[in-house]
Amino acid sequence: MHPANPLPYANGPVSESPLGGSRFIRACLRQPVDRTPVWFLRQAGRYMQEYRDIRKHHTLVEICKQPELAAEVTITAAEKLGVDAAIIFADLLLPLEPMGLDFDFQAGEGPVIHHPVRTMDDVRALRTDRAGDLIYVARAIEKVAAHFNSQNAGDSLGIIGFCGAPYTLASYMIEGGGSRNYIHTKQMMYSDPVSWRLLLDKIVAVLEEYCRQQVEAGADVIQIFDSWVGSLGLADYREYAFEASQRLIHAVQQMGVPVIYFGVETAGLLTQMAATGADVIGLDWRQPLDEGWRAVGHSHAVQGNLDPITLFAPLEILEQRVHEILRAANGRPGHIFNLGHGIVPTTPVENVQAVVRMVRRFQI
Ligand code: CP3
Repeated sequence: MHPANPLPYANGPVSESPLGGSRFIRACLRQPVDRTPVWFLRQAGRYMQEYRDIRKHHTLVEICKQPELAAEVTITAAEKLGVDAAIIFADLLLPLEPMGLDFDFQAGEGPVIHHPVRTMDDVRALRTDRAGDLIYVARAIEKVAAHFNSQNAGDSLGIIGFCGAPYTLASYMIEGGGSRNYIHTKQMMYSDPVSWRLLLDKIVAVLEEYCRQQVEAGADVIQIFDSWVGSLGLADYREYAFEASQRLIHAVQQMGVPVIYFGVETAGLLTQMAATGADVIGLDWRQPLDEGWRAVGHSHAVQGNLDPITLFAPLEILEQRVHEILRAANGRPGHIFNLGHGIVPTTPVENVQAVVRMVRRFQI
């Protein structure tokens, strides 16, 4: 098995002093921190008035492609919440476009990919030579990094770049959008493994370059979203998805940053996901954090795992749940507080801010 932290990581302001540097990056590396770092999956989004105001004038993809706007959305969300990390505002599906697949977001339906990938010819037609077109994401990261690095040198916010995992991106390309049963995806996996492998190889080639651009622009950490990997049983994960994820994770680590590997409904997959060598494993909320961490193994950090719908509960219940998670982590180095999946659009912002205060004040 690959060691969790093979390299001294380059981008993060990790200092020699025991508690210096960014507490978010320190936690990714399982170093001691003064308090548990906290950020939220989908912390910039429709639940926030400032984001809705910008969305009145721009589509989602326009915001992503204009570095000034993407940086503003990223920074506003992080500062409004007072979190320890800022995730760059982008979307999982952006790499599909330079590969030759057009998509849009249709109201109420989520993303729609117009010509899904179903045959070997479709896979062959995908391009891997235009990852450079995605440079607008790196440009936005540069602006975010310039903003935060000029602010507080002592304990700067971590900047998170991200991309989808090969399996999850492949499933979008094949299904043409979100899916309930992943029938087309699994059909290709089982009945045309040669096309499946070629598809994953092409995705990994593009994502490697995309992540490199993000790291060179100043991303301290890369999060890889395998959001739909929970649709696979363990045997299929091992046979059809693991190797491509592992390859991408290693490649990103070689660029000098830690990797967070996240999925949903992964209780049965956690041990195998950790075997990719990712530094941090994201946990969903269906399992207590300590059980999930045991499955991952204590040689990895974990991130999670509040149910995002708890943000609709009365504050006493919310606090109980936040404290349960922090107690389950038990002060062990390497816990990053987060949700088990993304914030949903009608979430009250003040409850998200309340969680930040609860995490900050908590003492074991
Ligand atoms: O603050 C952040 O977290 C950064 C922004 C971010 C977005 N998408 C912006 C966005 C991130 C990290 C993503 C990742 C993403 N995109 C994922 C993986 C994360 C996860 O939840 O597991 C997935 C599956 C996607 C694909 C995608 N994009 C979906 C399914 C949707 C929802 C469609 C809908 O209409 O709600 C999107 C749209 C999207 N991406 C929004 C945002 C803020 C919705 C708001 C909008 O339309 O402006």
